[in-house]
Amino acid sequence: MVIKKKVLITGGAGFIGSHVVRLFVNKYPDYHIYNLDALTYAGNLENLTDIENAPNYTFIKGDITDEKFINSIFETYKFDCVIHLAAESHVDRSIKNPLAFVKTNVIGTMVLLNAFKSCWSERFDGKLFYHISTDEVYGTLGQTGLFTESTSYDPNSPYSASKASSDHFVRAYGETYNMPYVISNCSNNYGQNQFPEKLIPLFINNIIDHKDLPVYGDGNYTRDWLYVKDHAVAIDLIFHKGKLGETYNIGGFNEWKNIDLVRLLCKLMDVKLNREEGSSEQLITFVKDRPGHDLRYAIDASKINKELGWEPSVTFEEGLKKTIDWYLNNEHWLNNVTSGSYKLYYQNQYS
Ligand code: NAD
Ligand code: DAU
Repeated sequence: MVIKKKVLITGGAGFIGSHVVRLFVNKYPDYHIYNLDALTYAGNLENLTDIENAPNYTFIKGDITDEKFINSIFETYKFDCVIHLAAESHVDRSIKNPLAFVKTNVIGTMVLLNAFKSCWSERFDGKLFYHISTDEVYGTLGQTGLFTESTSYDPNSPYSASKASSDHFVRAYGETYNMPYVISNCSNNYGQNQFPEKLIPLFINNIIDHKDLPVYGDGNYTRDWLYVKDHAVAIDLIFHKGKLGETYNIGGFNEWKNIDLVRLLCKLMDVKLNREEGSSEQLITFVKDRPGHDLRYAIDASKINKELGWEPSVTFEEGLKKTIDWYLNNEHWLNNVTSGSYKLYYQNQYS
């Protein structure tokens, strides 16, 4: 098979990255997919056992902040395109250790940009640097309005500030060096393989174990939720059909107040676990709020819808049911990731 493109996907052992890697490996046998991941606490090769032996797939263990190593793999493999997902991704961790976020999300992105630029000596024909970002860069909304692609950046957490900074560098390389790039900013993802530090998998895990469900503040914070496989499909479309130098917002048209989402999750879990109706809701505990907690995120995804024909394929209730089923059927995965350092993290965050 003649290989048409060598695609480097960073952070491919993480939650969203693993869905993107699987989609690309299976859908494009004439691309070679290189998954570069440092395998931090959030990276897990168990997410990819079904494709690990595919002939068009190579895993590379490495850190995006390691300049010498990153330059060497670009020299060896000459990647045509990069889809950059590797990041520190959890807001609560960024509040406790902001520097780690600057290191990975800002410096790591810079190292990749420089390696990509040097590799092609600024002769970028047919090349692409695709940077995956978040709606959190826009800051917070009040009770109304939506984030569009032209909303000003106004990040509030160390995580979102580091992602905003990396977005700016990608754009700056586009302007300064004519580097072909696209950026997408997505809302909250949920689905299988998400590390149980984020709201939905954390609460599924706690419900299974009859543990408290720690809702921050009064629970009246709003997020827009998107099923992870729909995000992967959007990334595929933007990668192939997105206009160079453009940004695309991706969202689920699916806003939920945290407390309403948690109540729905409790209801669905009671049914799945054959527990008495209302029993999981009794685990809800209102705890100290997250510092700098953004009130509301909501995405206007009309650009990607109109220009690329993308829309979410599953309803929230369908997606949540699939997600719950996956966690209930993958106890082994859940036990593996919640053993060891997870216990320490949990104690520090919630005690
Ligand atoms: P994740 O935390 O599940 O995975 C991150 C992956 O990056 C892990 O596999 C980890 O090992 C790897 N990684 C971390 N530091 C690294 C380093 N220095 N070198 C190499 N690899 C490293 O994150 P996720 O939720 O899958 O998010 C992926 C990307 O999508 C991130 O850039 C995030 O900002 C963005 N995003 C996430 C969401 C969401 O709801 N999860 C929404 C919008 C955008
Ligand atoms: O919007 C996109 C972003 O969504 C991504 O860029 C981030 O990587 C991803 O982590 C996510 O950020 P959030 O902070 O919105 O997600 P999280 O799951 O941490 O929290 C969702 C909401 O639930 C938020 O309002 C905080 C609240 N929450 C969260 C946790 C972990 C609780 O009430 N209790 C909790 O224990």
